[in-house]
Amino acid sequence: MRKEVAKTHAETSQQVALRLKEFINHNPGALVCLAAGDTPLSAYAALIEMQKNGEVDLSSAYYAGLDEWVGLGYENKGSCRQVMEDHFYRPAGIPQAHIHVFDGKAADQQEQAREMEAFIASHGEIQLTVLGIGLNGHVGFNEPQTPQAEGCLLVELDEVTRQVSAKYFDTPIPVEKGITLSLAQLGKAREILLMATGAKKREIVHRILNAPFTPEVPASMLTYEDKTTFYLDEAALGE
Ligand code: F6R
Repeated sequence: MRKEVAKTHAETSQQVALRLKEFINHNPGALVCLAAGDTPLSAYAALIEMQKNGEVDLSSAYYAGLDEWVGLGYENKGSCRQVMEDHFYRPAGIPQAHIHVFDGKAADQQEQAREMEAFIASHGEIQLTVLGIGLNGHVGFNEPQTPQAEGCLLVELDEVTRQVSAKYFDTPIPVEKGITLSLAQLGKAREILLMATGAKKREIVHRILNAPFTPEVPASMLTYEDKTTFYLDEAALGE
C-alpha cells in the first residue's frame, strides 16, 4: 500500500480529487464506487469544480453506491443516498441511468443486494473505489465482526457505528442494520483509495498501518501493496 500524507484535510481532498479526475479521464465508462460519510465530501466538491473548469466529464463514469442504513432513504438527512445525491450526483449532473444505489427503505433488502450485484456484473467490476474508515476500522458497513463473503451483505451494525451515526442525522434515528458491498467485492477493484483525516482517526490509522490483513480491522483487509493508496493528513497520521 502506498501512503500519501498531506498537511491538511483540504490538501488530502485535493489529492483524491486529482486522482479521481485522472482515472475517470483515462477510463471512460468505468464503474466507480464512492463512499458517503463526511471524509470524502470536500474531494467530491473539488472534483465538481474540476468539471466546471472543463477538466473532466464526470458523467462518462458509472457509479455504484457503497452502502446504506437499512430503513433510511433519500428523505432522511444523513442517509448515504441523500449525502451522495446532494453532494455529488446532482451537482455533478450524473444521469440517473449511470447510478445504482441501495434503497434502504425497500422491504426486501436481499433483493437490493441482488440488484446491486447484477448492476456491478453488468459493468464487469468496480474499477476504482474511494473509501472512508470508521473509528472501528469499518469500510462501507463491513464491521469488525462481519463474516467475510462475496457480493453484498446485510449487516448488524457495530455499537461504535450506531453511536457515530448520530452525527449524520438531524434527530436521533435508531439504526440497527446496514447493507453494504462486501470486502471481497471492494477488493476486486483495480484501484482503492482509502481516506482518513483528522486526529479522531489517528488510533485506527495506526492499527491499519501496523497490522495489515486483520479481520478485526476491516480496512486493513484492503491494504494491497499494488493497488491501494492510503490518503492521510498529518492529524490522522500524528507524526
Ligand atoms: C459511508 C461509509 C462509511 C464511512 C466511515 C467514515 O458510505 O461507508 O464506512 O466512510 O464511517 O465516516 P466519516 O467519513 O464520516 O468519518
